[in-house]
Amino acid sequence: MRILGALQLDHAAARLGGRLIWTEVDLEVQEGEFVAILGPNGAGKSTLLKALLGVVPLAEGSVRVFGRPVRRGSDEIGYLPQRRRFDPDLRIRAVDLVRLGLDGERWGMSLPSPAKTNRVAEMVELVGAAAYQDRPIGELSGGEQQRILIAQALVSGARMLALDEPLESLDLNNQQAISELIRSICQTRGVTVLLVAHDINPILPFVDRVVYVAGGHVLSGKPQEVIRTETLTALYGTPVEVLHTSDGRIVVVGQYEPVTHHPDDH
Ligand SMILES: Nc1ncnc2c1ncn2[C@@H]1O[C@H](COP(=O)(O)OP(=O)(O)OP(=O)(O)O)[C@@H](O)[C@H]1O
Ligand SMILES: [Mg+2]
Repeated sequence: MRILGALQLDHAAARLGGRLIWTEVDLEVQEGEFVAILGPNGAGKSTLLKALLGVVPLAEGSVRVFGRPVRRGSDEIGYLPQRRRFDPDLRIRAVDLVRLGLDGERWGMSLPSPAKTNRVAEMVELVGAAAYQDRPIGELSGGEQQRILIAQALVSGARMLALDEPLESLDLNNQQAISELIRSICQTRGVTVLLVAHDINPILPFVDRVVYVAGGHVLSGKPQEVIRTETLTALYGTPVEVLHTSDGRIVVVGQYEPVTHHPDDH
C-alpha cells in the first residue's frame, strides 16, 4: 500500500461562478513540508486553500488531507484567511484571541480550564508573543498580529497550516522573522504548512517546495525547478522571464500581464 502524505490532490478541478479556475491538478505534500503557493492575482491560490479546507467543493477529482477526504471545519487544519485586519479600536486581548482558536470557546460554552490556559500559553510562547499577549489586538503591529494569528491557528492542535498571504504588508525583517518561525514550527512540530505569497524572495531560504498556480494549471517542485523562464512560460501560456539579480533575488517579469490561456478557452 502507498503511504499517503499530508495532502493529496488527484486530477482536481475547481469551478467558481460557472468558470473553471484550475484543472488537472495533481499535487502531493508530505507531512512537515513547508510549501509556498505562488502565482498572479486571480489565478486561484486562495481557491486552492479553500479546496483543501472543504469550503470550495471540487468540480472534478479528489482531495485528501492526511489520507482522508476533506471535512469542512476540521481541527486538523489551521486557516488564516487573506487580508485579515483588526479594527484599531478592538479591545480584545491578544491572548484571548489565541484562546478563541480552541473549540467551543467561540460560543462561550466551555469554562476556563488549566489545561486550556496552559495550551494557550504554550502557543503564545511558541510564536514569541509573550511580551504583548495582554495588549489589545487592535493596538499591535502587523507582524505582532500575524504571530498571534498563527498561535490561534495552531492552538487546537492543527497538523496543517493554510496561510493565505500572511506576509502581506509586513516589512522585510518581519517577513523574514515570520518565515523563520513557520520553518521552525514545521521542523519541531512536524506541522505541514501551505503559505500563499506574492514574492518568493523572503521565503526562498525556508521553503521546501513551491506550488505555482497560473494559466488554469498548477505546477509544483523545488524552487529552482519551477521558477525558470521555460517552465513558467509554459505554465502561464504567455511569455514570462525569470531574472536573477546580482543580490540573489529572483524576479519574474511579465507575470502581471493578463493570462491569455484559460481552461475555458478549449
Ligand atoms: N465566490 C466566487 N464566485 C465566482 N468567482 C469567484 C469566487 N471567488 C473567487 N472567484 C474568482 O476565482 C478566481 C480565483 O480567485 P482566488 O481568490 O482563488 O485567486 P488568488 O490567486 O487567490 O488571487 P489573489 O492573488 O488576488 O488573492 C478569480 O478570478 C476570482 O474572481
Ligand atoms: Mg488570494
